[in-house]
Amino acid sequence: MNGIGHSSNGTSPAAAPQLRAHVTGWGRYVPSQVLTNADLERIVDTSDEWIVSRTGIRERRVAAAHETTASMAAVAGLRAIRTAGLEPDDIDLILLATLTPDYWMPSTAALVKEAIGNTRAAAMDVMAACSGFVYAFANAQAWITSGLAKHVLVIGAELLTRFLDYTDRGTCILFGDGAGAVVLSARDEPGGSLGIELTTEPQGAYMIWLPSGGAKSPPSAETVARGEHYVRMEGKETYRFATRTLASTALASVKKSGLELSDVDLFIPHQANIRIIEAVAKGLDLPMDKMFVNLDRYGNTSAASVPIALAEAVNEGHVEIGDNVCIVAFGAGFTSGAVTIEWTADPARGRVGDAAVDPSEVHVRLPVDWDSVDPIPEALAAIMAKPGTVNPPLDDVVPGDPEPASRSLAR
Ligand code: ACO
Repeated sequence: MNGIGHSSNGTSPAAAPQLRAHVTGWGRYVPSQVLTNADLERIVDTSDEWIVSRTGIRERRVAAAHETTASMAAVAGLRAIRTAGLEPDDIDLILLATLTPDYWMPSTAALVKEAIGNTRAAAMDVMAACSGFVYAFANAQAWITSGLAKHVLVIGAELLTRFLDYTDRGTCILFGDGAGAVVLSARDEPGGSLGIELTTEPQGAYMIWLPSGGAKSPPSAETVARGEHYVRMEGKETYRFATRTLASTALASVKKSGLELSDVDLFIPHQANIRIIEAVAKGLDLPMDKMFVNLDRYGNTSAASVPIALAEAVNEGHVEIGDNVCIVAFGAGFTSGAVTIEWTADPARGRVGDAAVDPSEVHVRLPVDWDSVDPIPEALAAIMAKPGTVNPPLDDVVPGDPEPASRSLAR
């Protein structure tokens, strides 16, 4: 493991006040379309009972055709800025964690900067899969404590439902879309972001991956025909890594903060699977009421999962001023990350931020003279055309030996 650390107890230059990174704003956005387990039963060989008992997921959100990673990120980001009581131009740096950027270039962060009306920030994407938000948060802390930035907008945004193989029941049931964000601000007061632990274990690199579209295998008709533009995952190996590393990463962050596990009021774990979260609680000898869980409603939203959960936990009254909160995630790479935070913001501010931003008024500029093809995978579009059953195309049914509707539809 190659963990790196920052200790809240470190010494600082004699004259300069020690700058700390405090969470001053938070916000989230999830699309309104809901995809339930019952919906998925109509296209893959699965059941609500199997999904709930093996993962805890009951439903997830699906971005509409006009929505993108950047548009969701911009709404969540603006809400975080308003929660902090700031103007968009107060932000010095925008870090956007995603594995589903709108384009390979430019960065999605650049599109978000324009959409939120910021004219002066540096903006870049951070890619560490589902750990991306925690990695970006740790980077923001470094920028702030070194004096390079005063206010950093950190966003996790993901649109995974467009990268799933709807014939693969091992992956298509897990993921959903959404965005969450925080503003980190420089203060010379105690509290804020404390101990960081980040790890990367590349021996797991091909346990969750998306084979084509990059330089090793550029997109072509052949890569698409092979379905190499979809997420692939070895579920069991990923599960083993997650249960082992989430606990050790969280513990390392808490220790680097000069705290004990019992000092932590709430853990915000990556929302991948309830069994993983229960295993972590058991491993750390913590009751489940110290683990915030909302995966039943959103599934795994990858880099967006921790900031969405954090915003909800605060807005729903699970966090108070003075509480210690540990955010912890794992993901492809294999990566993991945790940061322990002493909460110093008024939780009631979250409602202000939510109310201040109407998603229909946030726009991401589109290119001139170019339009994308319909972005929604055919199989997903068929299930989202609710209510009613999905009728398989008649051509796909072989007389006398009918192919299950589920399989033919998902092609
Ligand atoms: N419905 C019904 N049956 C299913 C489904 C499904 N959706 N998926 C798999 N099965 C079947 C399998 O085919 C297998 O059947 P068999 O025994 O006849 O072969 C059986 O169920 C058991 O399959 P397992 O893979 O052993 O099931 P498991 O209990 O491990 O659960 C799961 C699978 C949910 C994917 C689990 O392994 C898991 O959560 N892994 C971690 C995944 C994860 O967190 N990924 C996030 C990555 S983060 C990022 O960076 C993107």
